[in-house]
Amino acid sequence: MKALVLSGGAGTRLRPITHTSAKQLVPVANKPVLFYGLEAIADAGITEVGVVVGDTADEIRKAVGDGSAFGLEVTYIRQDAPLGLAHAVRVAREFLGDDDFVMYLGDNFIVGGVTELVDSFRTERPDAHILLTPVLDPSAFGVAELDAEGRVSALVEKPEHPKSDLALVGVYLFTPAIHDAVLAIKPSWRGELEITHAIQWLIDEGRDVRSTTISGYWKDTGNVTDMLEVNRSVLETVVPDVLGTVDADSEIIGRVRIEKGARITGSRVVGPAIIGADAVITDSYVGPFTSISEGCHISDSEVEYTIILQNSALTGVRRVEASLIGRDVQVTPAPRNPSAHRFVLGDHSKVQISS
Ligand code: DAU
Repeated sequence: MKALVLSGGAGTRLRPITHTSAKQLVPVANKPVLFYGLEAIADAGITEVGVVVGDTADEIRKAVGDGSAFGLEVTYIRQDAPLGLAHAVRVAREFLGDDDFVMYLGDNFIVGGVTELVDSFRTERPDAHILLTPVLDPSAFGVAELDAEGRVSALVEKPEHPKSDLALVGVYLFTPAIHDAVLAIKPSWRGELEITHAIQWLIDEGRDVRSTTISGYWKDTGNVTDMLEVNRSVLETVVPDVLGTVDADSEIIGRVRIEKGARITGSRVVGPAIIGADAVITDSYVGPFTSISEGCHISDSEVEYTIILQNSALTGVRRVEASLIGRDVQVTPAPRNPSAHRFVLGDHSKVQISS
């Protein structure tokens, strides 16, 4: 069995908060979301992986290399334009050959991996097996309708009026039957060859399409609340270790990982938290559920439940909470002007001011 990992897409910076052009490289607990997918594939016992790349090919290649760091053999497959998930299957035809494969969307995060699913697919070999999960905003996804027996009866891509709350998760298992399907379909209203249409084609042909409903799913939608939440849940499982240095005036409490070259002085770090390589934390407080990336400088500051990307600095800032801070950002206090409050307050007013 092979894997096809989709890491293409246009290089438009749709998500300014992440400040990265490849959305598959958005970090979760200081690790690109794509890496969790590659690890899940390796854990499932698959070694031959085709990575579909587009405009951001250089960034992806730089991060993933030849795949050996994951125990994988990676072949890069160029897709000239993001013409759809089924189009990606078309361009990967030669790599896939006549093998079964798992297709994994590089911006999807699945708690608990895919080993069980891959194992059962290996034994049962339906024509296709899809994953579903209940979501609050189904119209942002492909949506599945199930019949009375729980079989998939229809798949609709980003419906305006969804008939269920079951979204298609970005992991699909296929036998080579999918190749006829991706050749049979036409582009959708958004100009893409949709994998949902290809799977619908299999259903209409009376082929065996099965589904499993899961929980513990996340996709980078540019939503900060969701991103902080997935970061929180992954930090709960981070392996604590001190590879950098911590001076005698600092205190490290709970599940904290301090990467190589990081220096903590006169500070308190309360886990779960991760401090990236070569980061410097001075006279500061780093609270739970915080990921501080490589090369950041935090001094005389307090930060909690926050993600800070590479080489950013907080200086004299108290306190930062529930925030996502991009790369190479500098946050400092504004100079204080003498100020006064002038009030005309009615009876029984209650006023809170921060001064
Ligand atoms: O994430 C799950 C959703 O993924 C499903 O619910 C939808 O049914 C499915 O169509 C897809 O929806 P999106 O429109 O959100 O997919 P997106 O354009 O974000 O692409 C998903 C990944 O595949 C992303 O890592 C980029 C990559 N990609 C996408 C296209 C369209 C490619 O490599 N090539 C492509 O042509």
